[in-house]
Amino acid sequence: MVSSLFGPAIGSGVPGTQHKASIASSVPPDAAWTDQELADPHAHAEKAGKVRGMFGAIAHRYDLNNRVHSLWRDQAWRRYAVRAAGVREGDMVVDVACGTGDLTHALARTRAAAVVGIDFSRPMLDVAEAKRARLPAKECGRVTYLEGDAMELPIADASADVVSIAFGIRNVVDPARALREFARVLRPGGRLVVLEFDRPGPALIRRLSDWYRGWLMPRTATFLSGDRTGAYKYLPKSVDTFLSRDAMCGLIRACGLTEVTSKALTFGVCRCYRAVKP
Ligand SMILES: C[S@@+](CC[C@H](N)C(=O)[O-])C[C@H]1O[C@@H](n2cnc3c(N)ncnc32)[C@H](O)[C@@H]1O
Repeated sequence: MVSSLFGPAIGSGVPGTQHKASIASSVPPDAAWTDQELADPHAHAEKAGKVRGMFGAIAHRYDLNNRVHSLWRDQAWRRYAVRAAGVREGDMVVDVACGTGDLTHALARTRAAAVVGIDFSRPMLDVAEAKRARLPAKECGRVTYLEGDAMELPIADASADVVSIAFGIRNVVDPARALREFARVLRPGGRLVVLEFDRPGPALIRRLSDWYRGWLMPRTATFLSGDRTGAYKYLPKSVDTFLSRDAMCGLIRACGLTEVTSKALTFGVCRCYRAVKP
């Protein structure tokens, strides 16, 4: 059943290998961000290579940092996204920028027939694969991981009932191109669910959140992960300079999806966008 999801790009060989070659050549030897580059990381010509290098470096402590620095809210946000996806019996689900697989595995706990996790970072996928092996047999059997790019999904047209992306769209070089890919692979009636960080509305909480994300977290998360790439300096800068929630909703609509809604989670620290393929 899973094979019906895969597009022609990977149909004839080992899943994802064609993408691997083109992605590998874009990784610079030094993936660290300088303070100057972080003024607007989305505009940097080497963003893809830097992002990939960064996640490769922090993969081993990624989950721990997520739990600690979200004050154990991150899994609740993913569970919200799963509910928003409204997974039905037999659905085909694609979790893009799946990283270490937390959302992928939450989706595998539903009545989905198959869940495909796609990411361009091999070390993040290695962690995901190790976690998948520890799932109950039924859930484990539903999950497949592929190395691939969000902007060129190895998935056939109109073959997915759900496409999800958690904390990934901000890291993609061209979010509009990725969203068009999501629209391409969704079947009519299929749902897109996007989780992304946001800045809270209430002034006091916003100031507290800005301080936490911009000052405290980069220090403690860098310490916990032993990171040298600047990953946790990039995180707040990439949130502050990313599309506003109105711009995100507009972009999702412009990519051909309808019924676009967004819901603030935990005072608006996180936001869940949902849309439907007409
Ligand atoms: C912040 S992590 C999110 C991981 C996971 N979705 C979660 O909920 O924890 C972002 C992930 O996006 C991946 N990523 C960034 N750009 C990508 C792209 N163009 N194609 C595929 N994966 C990408 C990174 O490798 C990383 O694993």
